[in-house]
Amino acid sequence: MARILVTRELPGRGMVELRAEHEVLVSASIDEHAGAVEALICQLTERVDARTIERAKNLRALGNLAVGVDNIDVAAATARRVPVVNTPGVLTEATADFTMALLLAVARRVVEADSFVRSGLFHGWSHDLLLGADLSGRELGIVGLGRIGTAVAHRARGFGLEIVYASRTDHGDGGVGARRVPLGELLGGSDFVTLHVPLSAETHHLIGERELGSMKREAILINASRGPLVDEAALARALASGLITGAGLDVYEREPEVHPELLASTRVVLAPHLGSATTGTRTRMADLVTRGVAAVLGGERPSNVVNPQVWA
Ligand code: GLV
Repeated sequence: MARILVTRELPGRGMVELRAEHEVLVSASIDEHAGAVEALICQLTERVDARTIERAKNLRALGNLAVGVDNIDVAAATARRVPVVNTPGVLTEATADFTMALLLAVARRVVEADSFVRSGLFHGWSHDLLLGADLSGRELGIVGLGRIGTAVAHRARGFGLEIVYASRTDHGDGGVGARRVPLGELLGGSDFVTLHVPLSAETHHLIGERELGSMKREAILINASRGPLVDEAALARALASGLITGAGLDVYEREPEVHPELLASTRVVLAPHLGSATTGTRTRMADLVTRGVAAVLGGERPSNVVNPQVWA
């Protein structure tokens, strides 16, 4: 029986199983309890830095209710031989769905259309009303062809989009007839660009002033991965000056803050970090992280550990 700190109550059977075997404390005060627990399950909004890991002297497992682990100092956990458990796979489809939802919403101006009707401005069909962009036959540039990027590619093929991707890894045609190109070529040639790489020191501000300046004027940028991949001030300027046409954002550089110019712009569709937000997906994420942490505590080596080298 171990003491486990879970920062928010979670849905699913995994929590029930965890309580049957262990002492589970639900509290958002990581600092207060870190020293007294053997496992911690946190949310992506909570920073678990080297200092916290150091204070958590009995820590044997660290779980994150997310696939991205940029909120955790994984190197510090690894140095202490603490496995970091995350939620890969189970949120791939939901996040890819939401990416397409943002792309369609921006391209076809769904949010503007909704407020247009609600404001009583709809007086009948008109051939030039709220014209948007075609998807079919145009090019989608996917930055990062991992699990989510690939799932987006499959959906995009269904909409008749041609796919190019930029990736450190060669995924061939990705099973979708995609073409691997350098990032610069992707940005310069794509009608739509969507980001699916993890946040790290190398990917911070991957899209900044220069990159936005190299994109087509008709281009639409979608980001449902991590906010700091994009220099938000540069994006606001690019949209205001018409350097690119639109953006769909689910994540922000200083979440939950949003750049005020983006809040005021009708060229952007904004969502509050909902990529994996379906009832089924969030339950599967909770089950995956709680069962992964339970497995680690039981001496097993679950596959959803980002630093398996702790067992080397
Ligand atoms: C959500 O943003 C995740 O990383 O799982």
